[in-house]
Amino acid sequence: MFSFSKCLALIAGVVAGVNAAGPLQQQTGSWGANPTNVGFYYYKPASVSSNPALIVAIHYCSGTAQAFYSGTSYANLADQHGFIVIYPDAPDAGGCWDVHTTATLTHDGGGDSLAIANMVRFAISNWGVDASRVYMTGLSSGAMMTNVLAGAYPDLFAAGSAWAGVPYGCFGGPDMWNSACSTGQITKSGQQWGSDVRSGYPGYTGPRPKLEIWQGTLDTTLNYHNFGEGIKQWTNIFGYSETPTEVDTNWPLPNWTRSVYGPNFRAISAAGVDHNIQIQADQVLDWFGITGDGSTPPTSPPPTTTPPPTTTSPNGPAQSQWGQCGGIGWQGPFTCVAGTTCQMINQWYSQCL
Ligand SMILES: *[C@@H]1O[C@H](CO)[C@@H](O)[C@H](O)[C@H]1NC(C)=O
Repeated sequence: MFSFSKCLALIAGVVAGVNAAGPLQQQTGSWGANPTNVGFYYYKPASVSSNPALIVAIHYCSGTAQAFYSGTSYANLADQHGFIVIYPDAPDAGGCWDVHTTATLTHDGGGDSLAIANMVRFAISNWGVDASRVYMTGLSSGAMMTNVLAGAYPDLFAAGSAWAGVPYGCFGGPDMWNSACSTGQITKSGQQWGSDVRSGYPGYTGPRPKLEIWQGTLDTTLNYHNFGEGIKQWTNIFGYSETPTEVDTNWPLPNWTRSVYGPNFRAISAAGVDHNIQIQADQVLDWFGITGDGSTPPTSPPPTTTPPPTTTSPNGPAQSQWGQCGGIGWQGPFTCVAGTTCQMINQWYSQCL
């Protein structure tokens, strides 16, 4: 339980939100099957758009709907843009989501994921939510649930944004906390990870939510190894190469790197950041298409006068697998952890592969 407690301590103090104009509300009464007794909370701004978009915002371990409502800026952004936010509240005593049982990992199989799916269905049926504009995002345990929902309920969501989570199925097993996964000891091929996702909704052939994953390179609570595993998983699902088609450094913050694999999947690596990653809600709304058009616009290339990187390595740890290890303007580590080598992708980006 050490890692779990550490997770709580790290996340609890981090998120700083923006006050919304109105209160968080609770949906009571009968709204759909809810076998694990998940709490249904939501925020509706004073001016809801007609046929509004919906964001399901999913809290971290030890978090609550209330904490995620007040600790993130989604409710405030709902005031500005007219969408509705649902904040599910985990029934577990430790405040974590069940992302491990076969029930929760399976379409309409039960568990916490079914309750969240039924909240979405209720919102579509009763609040006029546009079924084609339902999105999900979560932090830590909520990011794990975002991956679970992308696998088990691909029919409900148009897009997802997972912050410091693990791949779909990585926590599978008997316990709420999976130490092998959290410490980065689970490695599979893209095909295996993809098969895990496909098992979440056997026979499903419809579109799948486009997904972005974000993670700090120093994350040890849910080890950064899982970032690379997630890239394998979702590139397999979308039929993309595991080598990005575009890499943008210093996006959206200095030392963060956006790798684009295709229109439906991108991964943002936050160099020097631990589990305590700062959610970039404006970028999430752009990805969903609530603001912007949902595409990944190219960033301007750095000026050609930028000096090339030196080949000397600064003091400090070697870069992790999948991390950046070179490229014009790069000042981070140029050496890779054992078992990986620094490979040049293009002049702006080399990666430990
Ligand atoms: C970016 O990385 C460099 C090299 O590790 C570091 O010196 C700098 O402080 C980092 N910048 C930010 C904003 O984190």
